[in-house]
Order: sequence, then structure tokens, then C-alpha cells
Amino acid sequence: MKKEVKIRPFWYSDMWLFPKLITIITTLDKQGRINAAPYSHIMQYDVMAKRPRMIVGFRQDSHTFVNICDTGEFVVNCPSADHLDDMMDTARFYPEGVNELEHTSLTTVPSLHVKPPTIAECPQIAECTVDEIIRLEKSSGIVIANIKALVFDEELLEMPREQRIHAMNLPIGLGDESRRDYFHAVDYKVTKHELGEPPDAFKGGEVQLGMTWDDDALQSLMTIPPGVRKMVTEQTEKHAREKGDNKVTLVSMQELAEEAGMSDEFFDRFRTKKTG
Ligand SMILES: Cc1cc2nc3c(=O)[nH]c(=O)nc-3n(C[C@H](O)[C@H](O)[C@H](O)COP(=O)(O)O)c2cc1C
Repeated sequence: MKKEVKIRPFWYSDMWLFPKLITIITTLDKQGRINAAPYSHIMQYDVMAKRPRMIVGFRQDSHTFVNICDTGEFVVNCPSADHLDDMMDTARFYPEGVNELEHTSLTTVPSLHVKPPTIAECPQIAECTVDEIIRLEKSSGIVIANIKALVFDEELLEMPREQRIHAMNLPIGLGDESRRDYFHAVDYKVTKHELGEPPDAFKGGEVQLGMTWDDDALQSLMTIPPGVRKMVTEQTEKHAREKGDNKVTLVSMQELAEEAGMSDEFFDRFRTKKTG
């Protein structure tokens, strides 16, 4: 049995589990004083390289949001799980102008393109400037940010993904209870699932089926290289209709493949080499 729950303020953390990236955002206030605080309402916004952008959500009266509105710059620092206690210390409600980092073991180095500093101990960093600010009424302040630079600890750059995941050891945010107790996944078990589809496989999703396909016929179609799957679908359905069939079966597919000389070697010419 499923049961609907009442949607309350902070619904994203109240009941709904939303595993998230944990970051510490550094900013400067108008007087140039450093501020740091954890933020996990963060996601990619424009995924292309021309204008790469992130979206970040804040409490509108937070020092971080006010500083970003005032100065137009901030740095997203991703701490490793070794610094979870430090990260939590930066979440405390220190008075305005206090540099939370001074109450942690974290240290700073200059950033490359913006004035707020980078946290030296964080392996993954994004230096950002403001593109757009959206103030939701009686709710979050949303910052759409230009990514000026993505910066990593140098030794991570050549590592294969799985090794890099372990080396970075980023905690996964699992939300809070009443904004008092915060939960994180650390030392997690990483699994790897091969999709078994080439990088151009999305083209397969553009194929339209004009008639019913038996499941085994559909599975067989899925083995056809995506680049020619549309053509094969149309040919197969045409063949089935000409035979007077009202659906595509594996038998009719095999007949057509034989008639048309569409052997495995023929399809191999279209197959994209798998990488990685
Ligand atoms: C793990 C974690 C994630 C948080 N994520 C957010 C967030 O995405 N948005 C937000 O407004 N507050 C978030 N907070 C709460 C702020 O960090 C907290 O209100 C902090 O005191 C704000 O500091 P500031 O006023 O110096 O910006 C988070 C806190 C923790 C511990």
C-alpha cells in the first residue's frame, strides 16, 4: 500500500530522501570579509561548454546569499568526508562578518578568477559569478551562476573515474531531521553498471514503432546499431504488413534479415566502438 503525505515546508528534506552533493560556499562581504557555509541545493543548469552554468538555492537572509547579491562572486568547494565535522562547523549561525573557516581545520588559498578564496583541502572546486538571481516569494533565493573555472587537485586529473571516486571520498548528503541532525553517506560501496549501449544509443529513442512488436522481436531490434535502427524498424514493419501480419515477430524479423542480407557483419559496419 502506498500513502500520500502532506507536503510541508522543507518537504525536500522533511520526508523525501534526496541524496545530494555537499559543498561549502565561500564568499566575501562588501567589506572583503570571508564567509563560508554548507550548501547542497546545487545542480548543473546549462550543461554545454559555451556558457556553463550551475543553479544554487539559498535562504534569502543567509550571509552567503546576501554576499553573492552584493559582490556577484562565490566559490563552490566540495569537501571530502574527512572534513564532515569542519563542514558542519561552518553551518553554525555565527554573527555577520565572522569567518567560519577560522573555527575549523580548513585553510584557504587564492582562487584563480574570483576574489572569494578556495578551500585548500577541497579536491573539487567551481569558481562562479552571478548570471541571474531569482527571489522566490517567501522562499529560496535562486542563483544561476556562470562557472568561470572547474578546479581539481592535480593528481585526480589522470585517474579513471572509479579510482577518482574513492580518492575524492565525497560525502553524500542525506538530509536532516528538523535542521538539527544531519545525515551523510560515507565510505559507501560503489557499484558499476555497464549500460551496454554505444554513446550514440540515444538515437534509438527517436525510433517510432508503427505496430505492435513481440517482446523478443523488440529485444532483437535493440541489438541493431542505433544509427540504422530506424531504417530496420521501417523495413521490418513493411515486411510484416506485406505478409498480412498485424504484429512483428522474431520469425518475421529473421526472414527479412535473411532476404535482405542483413547479417551481423552488415550491422558491424555501423556499430560504434565502445570506449572506456
Ligand atoms: C549539509 C548542509 C547543507 C545545507 N544546504 C543548504 C542549502 O542548500 N541552502 C540553504 O539555504 N541552506 C543550507 N544549509 C544551511 C546553511 O548552511 C546554514 O543556514 C548556514 O548557517 C548559512 O550560513 P551563512 O548565513 O553564513 O550563509 C545547509 C546546511 C548543511 C549542514
